[in-house]
Amino acid sequence: LRIAVFASGQGSNFQALADAAVQVKLGGSIELLVCDKPDAPVVERARRAGIDAWVFTPKDYASREAYEAEILAELQRRGVGLIVLAGYMRILTPVLVEAYAGRMINIHPSLLPAFPGMNAIRQALEHGVKVSGVTIHFVDGGLDSGPIIAQRTLDISEGETEAMLADRIHAAENVLYPWAVRAIAEGRVSLNGRRVSLDAA
Ligand code: GRF
Repeated sequence: LRIAVFASGQGSNFQALADAAVQVKLGGSIELLVCDKPDAPVVERARRAGIDAWVFTPKDYASREAYEAEILAELQRRGVGLIVLAGYMRILTPVLVEAYAGRMINIHPSLLPAFPGMNAIRQALEHGVKVSGVTIHFVDGGLDSGPIIAQRTLDISEGETEAMLADRIHAAENVLYPWAVRAIAEGRVSLNGRRVSLDAA
């Protein structure tokens, strides 16, 4: 399976996926990083890992559809079969969402459907929940709304700060995401309506 990872920031999940690929634990190859922030640390991570990067500046384009059409052409040229969103901070249009329906996944730092959107970790703490976690889901047209593939819970301890919880969430994500990508690559994930089933390895 040929994979493209989309990211805008630190890239800890990109790194975890790239490391898993090197260890032949991803079930596929990362063909491309797509990044909308030329200065993002994830771009340097791709360079060090020897992974090609398609880096762009959104304001150079007339519309989201315009850059997505270019991205789509590049993905098709490379035979990409799975898009993995890993901290990609841009809203996607139907250009990519429809072309990759059932073949695009995202990771979100809360137990969806609780706390979709930005600053999910802070939202959860401010709400005072006792349990939060991580969700991996297929991407549909909505905001963090697609069918759920996998979740991990984390108990929130008394006095936990946003920084502490963010660290623990990232650590959980960095384990769960490569595992989920592998399950997809091995054909063990199937989608029936909103329900996703996952066969054991
Ligand atoms: C992660 O917390 C992910 O859940 C969210 O963006 C963050 C990306 O972190 N969608 P990183 O860039 O992979 O370190």
